[in-house]
Amino acid sequence: MRVIQVNDYAEMSQKAAEMISEQVRKKPDSVLGLATGETMLGTYAALVNEHQQHNTSYRDVRTFNLDEYIGLDATHPNSYRYYMNERLFRFLDIPLAQTYIPNGCAPLLEEECARYERLIEQCGGIDLQLLGIGQNGHIGFNEPNTSFASTTHVVQLSESTRKANARFFPSADAVPTHAITMGIATIMKSKQIILLVSGKRKAWAVSHLLEGEVTPAVPASILKAHPNVIVIADTEALSHVS
Ligand code: F6R
Repeated sequence: MRVIQVNDYAEMSQKAAEMISEQVRKKPDSVLGLATGETMLGTYAALVNEHQQHNTSYRDVRTFNLDEYIGLDATHPNSYRYYMNERLFRFLDIPLAQTYIPNGCAPLLEEECARYERLIEQCGGIDLQLLGIGQNGHIGFNEPNTSFASTTHVVQLSESTRKANARFFPSADAVPTHAITMGIATIMKSKQIILLVSGKRKAWAVSHLLEGEVTPAVPASILKAHPNVIVIADTEALSHVS
């Protein structure tokens, strides 16, 4: 695992956007794994900026998002499909049909999970997966004690994750209780992973990731077993690392 230390959120976002656009220039039909949440907002803004300035084309790129809330459709402002369309896709030249996100409103959720897993394989697997990390060490919506062998599946969100995400919803009760997420094994199959971390509230998770044991109690800890992970972390996120 390689750690790139940056000063702050802005620098983290800029660095991540540079790495993603470089990947797309090198391999124009890249398969990108994408994430949502606050951490990614700056990176997506920087990517849009880069696209507008340098015309990096996403025409042949395909994207797979990590997760989606169950019960929120594409028109719901808190769905991850809405987030991705509004924050990134509509500013790029990527056809929306090449952007995949689990369908949290599918009538048969187990089938939707299997379909998603198959789609990733049919596209040749993920070249570059972007990840954030939860305060409890989750990746995607793989909460503590998720099996490292898990593939795309339905999860019940922990109270701490629902509380952390409540800031985007009108009330804490409005946060969905379940989601579909790529599994840990799905994430680990990606050829390269870039994990972005910013801020003090992530310091515990980062210190465990870098210095703690590999344990399902901290899902991100499995990233140590991946041969090609880059962590871009700012000073505050690294403040508990000795
Ligand atoms: C989002 C996702 C989550 C977030 C994590 C951090 O698609 O998979 O694992 O990356 O919850 O969220 P923020 O960035 O809002 O702190």
